[in-house]
Amino acid sequence: MNIPLPMNTSAESWPTARYVDLRPSSESFLGAVISGLGAGRKSLPSKFFYDERGSRLFDRICELPEYYPTRTEMALMTDIAPELRALVPEGAELVEFGSGSSRKVRILLDAVAAFAAYVSIDISGDYLKQMASALACDYPALDVLAVSADYTQPIDLAHWEGCSRPRVGFFPGSTIGNLTPEDAVAFLENARRILGPGGGFIVGADLKKDAGILHAAYNDAAGVTAAFNLNLLVRINSELGGDFDLAAFHHRAHYNQEKGRIEMYLVSDRDQTARIDGHSFDFTEGETIHTENSHKYTVEEFQRIAERAGFIAQRAWTDENQLFSIHYLEVSSD
Ligand SMILES: C[S@@+](CC[C@H](N)C(=O)[O-])C[C@H]1O[C@@H](n2cnc3c(N)ncnc32)[C@H](O)[C@@H]1O
Repeated sequence: MNIPLPMNTSAESWPTARYVDLRPSSESFLGAVISGLGAGRKSLPSKFFYDERGSRLFDRICELPEYYPTRTEMALMTDIAPELRALVPEGAELVEFGSGSSRKVRILLDAVAAFAAYVSIDISGDYLKQMASALACDYPALDVLAVSADYTQPIDLAHWEGCSRPRVGFFPGSTIGNLTPEDAVAFLENARRILGPGGGFIVGADLKKDAGILHAAYNDAAGVTAAFNLNLLVRINSELGGDFDLAAFHHRAHYNQEKGRIEMYLVSDRDQTARIDGHSFDFTEGETIHTENSHKYTVEEFQRIAERAGFIAQRAWTDENQLFSIHYLEVSSD
């Protein structure tokens, strides 16, 4: 892959994969923390869970017995691979948004199509480098480009690539559920521009279900989700010079039936003050920081969101227990 890079990015050539750093989070992290903790109802954006440690904690969550989404989505992908094969154009470029461990994409590479290239986009740059490099070693015929970027921002792949293969997007893990429905439409509009005319998009979305199953999945007995949630404060302390007492906050997740979403919080165990970069933030006992939403959609609810963003909802599959859905969307021509 011969990619001319823009001047304001850093690029490294790895023996196995190319890596582009669009510097997604260094300055915006401090700004988001100051504004989120300064608000009447404190919140922090979930995208900041993910440094290398956060990415590894997420991978451990995927292995937990209570966390059904990963194994359900992977089994469903394997089952529907022949049908996906009929929809995906040969020789397409596969663009994964929020690639994490790049584990699920291997099912597409092995069972669905002969992709010419794989573009892996993630905010967690160090982890992305390692995972993209490992994948490139395992698939030596595949051109692999790792892009450290915020996928809610415009990403001009056409400018770098300079050739016009059809693109197929991949957004597994129900990461779409971390966005509000309005932000999901905005994300999908941005993805539609990145994928371009003739593009397809494979998206995993978690289904609405019994609140007990959801509660167990987001409050695991081993406390891995709690450690993942607290990683936000770990990052604030180590990267922004914060002085959060990590032992004085605990994890809470519950299902908000009205909004159809899991809400995750860090709860202050006592009255306390945290300082970050010359700013002070007071917490009362029991006060919360809202750290993540995970929206659950029926097939029809998700299809309406995709159609608002200019996609045609071509196909949808669910597993036999109605836990998870996978959608194939096409970029509409108008
Ligand atoms: C829920 S995990 C899913 C990981 C993997 N796709 C899977 O299905 O197991 C979300 C992934 O998206 C990445 N991510 C979250 N917000 C992002 C953003 N705004 N821009 C780019 N990557 C983001 C995280 O670093 C993480 O790898």
